[in-house]
Amino acid sequence: MATIFLGEMISVNQNPWNIKSPADALFYEEKGALVVDDQGIILKVGSSDLLCQEYKDAKIENGEGCVILPGFVDSHIHFPQMDMIGTHSGELLEWLEKYTWPMEKSFADPEVVREAADVFCQELFKNGTTFSSIFTSNHEHCVDILFEAMYRHGARAIVGKPSMDQNCEPTLAISAEEDYKEQLRLIEKWHNKDGRLFYSVTPRFAPACSEKMLEMLGKLFRSRSDLFLQTHICENQSEVAWIKEIFPKDKDYYAVYERYGLSGERCVMAHAILCTEDERARMLQGGTSVVHCPTSNLFLGSGFFPLMKVAGSGMRVGLGTDIGAGTDFSLWQTMSEANKVAKILKKPVHPVHLLYAATEGGALCFGQHDLGRLEAGYKADFQVINPGKNTLLSRAWKKYKDPVEKLMALIHHADDRVVSKTFVNGREVYSV
Ligand code: GUN
Ligand code: ZN
Repeated sequence: MATIFLGEMISVNQNPWNIKSPADALFYEEKGALVVDDQGIILKVGSSDLLCQEYKDAKIENGEGCVILPGFVDSHIHFPQMDMIGTHSGELLEWLEKYTWPMEKSFADPEVVREAADVFCQELFKNGTTFSSIFTSNHEHCVDILFEAMYRHGARAIVGKPSMDQNCEPTLAISAEEDYKEQLRLIEKWHNKDGRLFYSVTPRFAPACSEKMLEMLGKLFRSRSDLFLQTHICENQSEVAWIKEIFPKDKDYYAVYERYGLSGERCVMAHAILCTEDERARMLQGGTSVVHCPTSNLFLGSGFFPLMKVAGSGMRVGLGTDIGAGTDFSLWQTMSEANKVAKILKKPVHPVHLLYAATEGGALCFGQHDLGRLEAGYKADFQVINPGKNTLLSRAWKKYKDPVEKLMALIHHADDRVVSKTFVNGREVYSV
């Protein structure tokens, strides 16, 4: 039997970078209805009067005063870093040494991981995030425990164990041979579980991987066509300078990944702030996607990602919280910061661009063509929010009538207080 969810509806139903007026990509229905079948697929979206007539036998979920939006896609986040948000240190490399390695080392204890995994799933859902691409610590049990928690909570995610065998805390280093065996076991157990959990080959970043490790990862990634790959690239000036020292024969950072077949379709790279024009052109041509993580880039002082230029060139761009260099689980906060970065670069971004990058734009980075919209045929991954739970948002909601202005108010005011329910595959996974 179908279920009809009633409420105001907001979704971006085409790529706003492909059209002249981004506002035209916004779908808005004041008295809307979302019809979902019992397989968790959206059957129809439209006006409640019409759809309640058409689906007379459907069960009705009345969201009085609620707004329904697609679930968010967090295209880049680190599970073990949840408890180190805001740690005070210098830029990326110092922050890794001072806080990140010790924190990830503490995940050697499976009990620590188990306790954190449930909290992590809850934090994603309570921020309206239904699909995320996650780095764990590089302990096999960390990936296993997180997958198990995500399976139990009903989450949709791509998870990868960050491979590293050099330039990191010695107890976190692992040989390429051992790493390969651990990843094969994880892929066997979890990849494509229930059609919602997937494994991602995850070179942490090139400086932490020897040539042997990169070669193994390239072979593993290319050994089958359905794996994903996630990593970091060109985030920080000292990091890029370091690449020149460690890999002197490669013409740039991206060339290191290219040399080992760690680039192209299904490869998603975070930051890409300092990429050269040539690197960007090769990424675009090969089908590599990038993730903009503004709260992280501002927190670490990494720099300003040129979102309008890169997404405008046709590259797929998702948004990532990059917890815990990033400072908030909320994709609303991430959009708000992306807006400020774009302003500083004098290439302002439209609110509709931002919502697209936080939903379908992110899903497409991972080749998911049926996620991120309120539209027939798409998976019913959505969030129900109540603007009344946040005083300033609720006042703005009443004041602004234009859907783009309403979206603007959400971007700059909404937070986890307003999320009342989250659904994955039409199944409620979170409710306050
Ligand atoms: N580069 C390599 N590892 C990391 C990490 O954990 N966070 C960020 N922001 N950049 C990285
Ligand atoms: Zn990261």
